[in-house]
Amino acid sequence: MNHINLLNEFVDKFGNGGDIRGYFTPGRVNLIGEYTDFNGGYVFPCGLTMGTYMLARKRDDRKLIMYSLNFENDGVIQSSLDEFEIGSEKNWTMYPKGVMWALEEKGYQLDFGYDILVYGNIPNGSGLSSSASLEVLTGIMLKDMNSRNGIHEMTLADIALIGQYAENKYVGVNCGIMDQFAVAMAKKDYAIFLDTNNLTYKYVPVKLGNYKIVIISSNKKRSLADSKYNERRSECEQALALLQTRKNVSCLCELTVADFNEIKDVIEDDVLLARAKHTVYENERTKNAVTALENNDILEFGKLMNESHRSLRDDFEVTGIELDTLVEEAGKCEGVAGSRMTGAGFGGCTVSIVRDDCIDSFIEQVGRAYEEKIGYRADFYVAGVGDGAHKIDNLEEVHYDK
Ligand code: GLA
Repeated sequence: MNHINLLNEFVDKFGNGGDIRGYFTPGRVNLIGEYTDFNGGYVFPCGLTMGTYMLARKRDDRKLIMYSLNFENDGVIQSSLDEFEIGSEKNWTMYPKGVMWALEEKGYQLDFGYDILVYGNIPNGSGLSSSASLEVLTGIMLKDMNSRNGIHEMTLADIALIGQYAENKYVGVNCGIMDQFAVAMAKKDYAIFLDTNNLTYKYVPVKLGNYKIVIISSNKKRSLADSKYNERRSECEQALALLQTRKNVSCLCELTVADFNEIKDVIEDDVLLARAKHTVYENERTKNAVTALENNDILEFGKLMNESHRSLRDDFEVTGIELDTLVEEAGKCEGVAGSRMTGAGFGGCTVSIVRDDCIDSFIEQVGRAYEEKIGYRADFYVAGVGDGAHKIDNLEEVHYDK
């Protein structure tokens, strides 16, 4: 394995000279609070130490010359600030270009293009927000590189909103704000308890005592995930419209569990009822889970994670055999406080809270059972809880292994 310096790669691809700057944005894992963010509810994600790096240099023309070390087969991709076209990109550059398009849509003017090198160590498409990470990364690069056009005055929360707008309108996934907000605002050793209704938040220490966060990637390709995601969002909107005929609320998560049970008979369709039920109960669970963590009650936190998974499996129907197998097998292991799928589901990852002395046997046992049942391997990551989006001071220090 070669330990390669990113700056050397940049110079190799784009030539020497000029002001080359570097940035990092993490991936995220959501501990609990799934599919609540486009329903005005609570989420509880934290940043990872895995993430995405960008090296960039301003050009004196309007060209965008981009290269990703994760998609070497795509080669160097050339376009320009005059070539934004929704739905035209079929490769990774739709994320940085989507952010530039979104900024222009919101009235900011970009005057010059960039040479851009990207490298990420978040497994792509695994539900750990590699795309939100790249969106926010582009946003903080543009904020740092522009000093006149208002972009430099944007806050990290503004950049997260621009990233979400790019994802909704340019990429075409109607996601909520959780991922972009989490990767922008993450803080080492803390999770973010975010109210997506008004973007107020508090940092809660991830104090797990002798437990650790273990992420398992199912390695299941998330085919059709985007269209199913948009379908869930629309089902929630339909359920809300029905509930609003009984109670004056602006989103599903404004309902308490008691409110919901009082008026739920207005929803006759079983599928819509189940989607709304998951949302309202998950919101309640998220609040309770944060209280449990603040009280150092890891076992209660884990129990709520297990309930969250069951609800995502049975009522929201976004899990699938791969994620269900990982959670079920994790539940059979010693020293596991709780497990659940994380992110959008339909493949992707699970997150478990596992006692230190049981991690090796956990990986061995779940890994074996998964491969036997599903036919291919899962990947395990003992997660580090890392900082949010930031500029890298010393580019000489940034390496990757090839
Ligand atoms: C994806 C979306 C988020 C959120 C989760 C589900 O990660 O990008 O906005 O909806 O799914 O909780």
